[in-house]
Amino acid sequence: MAKHTVITMPGDGIGNQVLPESLRVLKEVGFDAEYIHADIGWDCWCNQGNALPDRTIELLTKHKLGLFGAITSKPNKAAQAELKSELHGKGYIYYSPIVSMRQKFNLDICMRPCIAFNGNPLNYIRKKAGGGFDEPHIDTTVFRQGTEGLYAGIEWTNPPENVRAALNSHPKFKSFASVPGPELAVSCRIITRNAAKRICTAAFEYAKKRGFKGVTICEKPNVVRETSGMMEEVAKEVAANYPGIALWSTNIDAQLMWLNKNPEDYNVIISSNLFGDILSDAFAGLVGGLGFAASGNIGDEIAVFEPTHGSAPKYAELNPPIVNPIAMILSAAMMLDHVNEGPRAARVRKAIADVVREGKVRTYDMMRVPGGAKSISQGAVSTVEMTDAILEKLR
Ligand code: NAI
Ligand code: MG
Repeated sequence: MAKHTVITMPGDGIGNQVLPESLRVLKEVGFDAEYIHADIGWDCWCNQGNALPDRTIELLTKHKLGLFGAITSKPNKAAQAELKSELHGKGYIYYSPIVSMRQKFNLDICMRPCIAFNGNPLNYIRKKAGGGFDEPHIDTTVFRQGTEGLYAGIEWTNPPENVRAALNSHPKFKSFASVPGPELAVSCRIITRNAAKRICTAAFEYAKKRGFKGVTICEKPNVVRETSGMMEEVAKEVAANYPGIALWSTNIDAQLMWLNKNPEDYNVIISSNLFGDILSDAFAGLVGGLGFAASGNIGDEIAVFEPTHGSAPKYAELNPPIVNPIAMILSAAMMLDHVNEGPRAARVRKAIADVVREGKVRTYDMMRVPGGAKSISQGAVSTVEMTDAILEKLR
């Protein structure tokens, strides 16, 4: 029997192209695992009215470890239109299966490393005051709270009477009191002290392990006083348990401005769900973009690892596939770390680092050529060839 069982969920579009590549790499480094395929995504929605089928939930509940590719997600109205005709009018509501998965299994620690590889032509560079450029080494990991905040899903257009009454009890609601229900949309930003404590603790533990001297809490407590306020308050409480590590506080708007000034100063950033999503994409842009952005959704019992990118439908039908498998392979390396296979994870990252540094093998995104069938003839390698180059380094 294999030591580990991994539920593989390629999902939609390019998820089906990149996930198998990560399995080739896991095999090459001798990861002792059995893989069980599970369905997730758009076809499941269209045919069953549920993008996260029960069998997938059962498999994850049982085996507790998942690798996920990407899914296609659409707003509920567009989703309804694509539902199989027999399922129309039966009350099915579309929810993003990855958001549902995080909430169902309490995968609340969303860890998103954005760490530059030397020699990546997509790395951030900065103009020096005295002329010329420098390339600061970016090594940032965003700890995004994964289950609450504005993704909690507690929202209404035309809120019911009792909700409206509750809103009316708040003095600040006076200026909205005469807005007709159908003209009014409300999304609740929920933060619980316990979840805030967990994400802050995960971030400080990581900072301690990596030897970083500070952790940044990035919110907006001067305006969003209750929820950002609680995040910041809890960050201070948690920081008190880590005397050698400073707590810095930034506002989300200023943080994004500093992204172009001194991004190398931020090694660990904690943020709530939506701000964390924005921050992690922003930092990913400094280290190569979506082709390099890996993530883990980690709960106490269950963990699912996935590239940050989506299903990129415009590339999904290309043969050979052209998208960069590195984000997916780095996600698999995070999974190795999670199951105490650190040395194997390190080998994978070293092999990727070698390929990137040599610069002989690059997918289209790394060459800054337009993506499409033509990118191969412009010198880009295919998805499979990029993996081949990484495998070559591992042999
Ligand atoms: P996307 O991430 O799928 O693609 C945006 C663009 O980024 C692509 O067109 C491509 O130019 C580039 N890109 C993405 N992955 C790449 C890779 N591995 N290598 C090279 N280039 C890459 O985002 P988009 O187009 O906004 O959304 C497409 C679908 O994916 C939507 O239905 C969206 O809801 C869904 N989505 C799903 C996510 C998930 O599964 N976790 C996350 C983000 C979007
Ligand atoms: Mg995102």
